[in-house]
Amino acid sequence: MALNNTGQDYGSLAKFFHWLMFLLLLGAIIGGNLDAAMPDGPEKAQELAIHKSFGVLILMVLSLRLLWKLSNTQPAHVESIPRWQATASTVTHWGLYLLMFAQPLSGILMSQSFGYPVPFFGLFDLPMLVEENKAVAKLVHEAHEIIWILLAAIATAHALAALHHHFVRKNDVLRRMLRRV
Ligand code: HEM
Ligand code: HEM
Repeated sequence: MALNNTGQDYGSLAKFFHWLMFLLLLGAIIGGNLDAAMPDGPEKAQELAIHKSFGVLILMVLSLRLLWKLSNTQPAHVESIPRWQATASTVTHWGLYLLMFAQPLSGILMSQSFGYPVPFFGLFDLPMLVEENKAVAKLVHEAHEIIWILLAAIATAHALAALHHHFVRKNDVLRRMLRRV
């Protein structure tokens, strides 16, 4: 079980990051929606502290994942794939990285510009990066509501493409993100 990617295959660390991030993002999207539907009060604040902590954890894991991607060989596209699909998948992957960064960053910016702290599992609060500004906070809140929808839509299209390659085209695309984990 190789840790590193090779020219043909994803290594175990890239697979670990991929599936861990999938679970964390799914949890944050479900949790964020449940929290947003709660009436204001101490219970909502408590639930939001958990959502924010997981959001910060996602930002940390994502940063490590990006460093790992940049310092590693990228597997070539599976050979039977037409060039336009290979290009589309590269663009999609970078787009997903952008949105995965934008979502927690907008969360942090939103909370801090509302004047609230961003806790990390009760261990510490993030340093205040911005001053309180309700107008900015409202705008960034809207961004936080839009970015997750874009992320979920593109990730769903990405997953459907992977399933299409596996079940219809019967090539190695999905298998190499799964096997020998
Ligand atoms: C990738 C990580 C994250 C994801 C996927 C995510 C997702 C979501 C979603 C889907 C909602 C519900 C949207 C709505 O209808 O209002 C939400 C709400 C919220 N998120 Fe996040 N979030 C993430 C990270 C963060 C972070 C890091 C913070 C702050 C430090 C944060 C703070 C909030 C707050 C305060 C709300 C509630 C807003 C309200 O009361 O309406 N989120 N999040
Ligand atoms: C939150 C959801 C998801 C996100 C954000 C996401 C993101 C990514 C990213 C960024 C890559 C490029 C590899 C890298 O640079 O790390 C990738 C590769 C891949 N993902 Fe996902 N993914 C998600 C869910 C899924 C699901 C549900 C499936 C399967 C049904 C899937 C199948 C794949 C496959 C097969 C590859 C490798 C593609 C290739 O060989 O070029 N992903 N994913």
